[in-house]
Amino acid sequence: MQFIGRTYMFQTKVFIVNLVDGGILAMVIEKCRIIDVPKITDATKGNLSFVESRKHIPFDIARVYYLYDVPGGVDRGGHAHRTLEQFFIAMSGSFDVLLDDGYREKRFHLNRAYYGLYVCPMVWRKLDNFSSGAVCLVLASDFYKESDYIRDYKRFLEAVRKRNPGEVASSDKKDG
Ligand code: TYD
Repeated sequence: MQFIGRTYMFQTKVFIVNLVDGGILAMVIEKCRIIDVPKITDATKGNLSFVESRKHIPFDIARVYYLYDVPGGVDRGGHAHRTLEQFFIAMSGSFDVLLDDGYREKRFHLNRAYYGLYVCPMVWRKLDNFSSGAVCLVLASDFYKESDYIRDYKRFLEAVRKRNPGEVASSDKKDG
């Protein structure tokens, strides 16, 4: 599916319905979404956008970091977080964020500073397709903790299965 206007792509590669007690559990990936932030436009002075904790994004901001001078063709990410929530904004240029909760994948193309992508815990992410001069701002719900990372894809799938016993994850999709 492709949305024209606010250029982001949506891809579904694997879809496995979770049935528990006869009900359908929402997939983790469905909680990850594009969120618009306020944009104050002034024809003479340019635009201003802002993000407030718990008002525009669903967490308190503990840390801000940014990716820049990313060489063309390079991938970043390639890990999941156990508890961290994040909000990605393309402050300049563009890049793609590929999300995978062990059951489904979605690809988002970020290219504007007035919206961002909320990524919830236990989602494998890869950032690629960085344009020249792209700046990726990341708002994070906690300080940097290496112990929160899952950097091995198979371990990520094992952790997903532990949380959803009996379900079939997309374990054969990727290596490490
Ligand atoms: P990492 O999160 O693996 O980067 P990416 O996913 O974008 O490729 O972090 C790269 C390195 O930077 C790693 O050694 C940890 C360090 N780092 C910090 O020290 N503090 C931080 O807030 C972040 C995000 C990373």
